[in-house]
Amino acid sequence: MKSNNHQDLGLNPDTLPAHVAIIMDGNGRWAKQRMMNRVKGHEKGSETVRTIVTACRELGISNLTLYAFSTENWERPKAEVKALMSLLKKFIISERAELLEKGIRFNVIGQKHRLPEDVQAEINTTMRVTASNTAMTLNLALSYGAREEITTAVKSIAQKVKSGMISPDKVTTQSISDHLYTSNLPDPDLLIRTSGEYRISNFLLWQIAYAEIYISQTFWPDFTRQEFIEILKNYQQRDRRFGKV
Ligand code: IPE
Ligand code: IPE
Ligand code: MG
Repeated sequence: MKSNNHQDLGLNPDTLPAHVAIIMDGNGRWAKQRMMNRVKGHEKGSETVRTIVTACRELGISNLTLYAFSTENWERPKAEVKALMSLLKKFIISERAELLEKGIRFNVIGQKHRLPEDVQAEINTTMRVTASNTAMTLNLALSYGAREEITTAVKSIAQKVKSGMISPDKVTTQSISDHLYTSNLPDPDLLIRTSGEYRISNFLLWQIAYAEIYISQTFWPDFTRQEFIEILKNYQQRDRRFGKV
């Protein structure tokens, strides 16, 4: 997008977040409000995903991470988990062409191996065909939990120490970051949660150390491009001090 378009929107193209992470919450309550099945909320929510991915691509936000399914979400009723997995598969197939066309690299963070095999296969295909795209990275957090991620990283570092590959004093904050699912991404600058819940729910605990947090009251299916732009404007007005004065 040309910088004069950013100015029309009230955005400064030079200080946009390099990485936006979103906890997409409120699909179930959106459906309940309308006396509909929770799955309808997830379906409508997947349309919002499309809208926000497009907005990020147009605005020039390089990395977007969306929390789509947590390690804890496996505990939901079987029928809801099944519906979410089938919706996910549909989404990954239907968006493939557009991701390719728009130069978006698709990536998954989380326990990919726990997902149904057919979903894994579609994920792998989309990741493979979009691997050389550079305009933007779309990260989907699937069967993702930050404590699991950190535990896996610690195990892997411990193995390397045990085998003598690295010495304990070579374990640094950087080497820990390098062992997380997000090793090739900058830390999120902005974390958004929709539906008015003031919690992190096991999302990117290590990576959000200095993220700016924005809680929207909107249920995810009702979240719009316009609200997203307003949140970006709010972000651009903040003074990020990183502990300094
Ligand atoms: C977010 O919406 C989607 C997932 C967690 C998969 P929810 O399904 O959590 O919706 P609420 O919080 O029950 O409204
Ligand atoms: C967090 O939402 C997980 C995702 C958005 C995928 P939840 O709805 O699962 O979180 P809690 O249960 O309200 O903490
Ligand atoms: Mg929820």
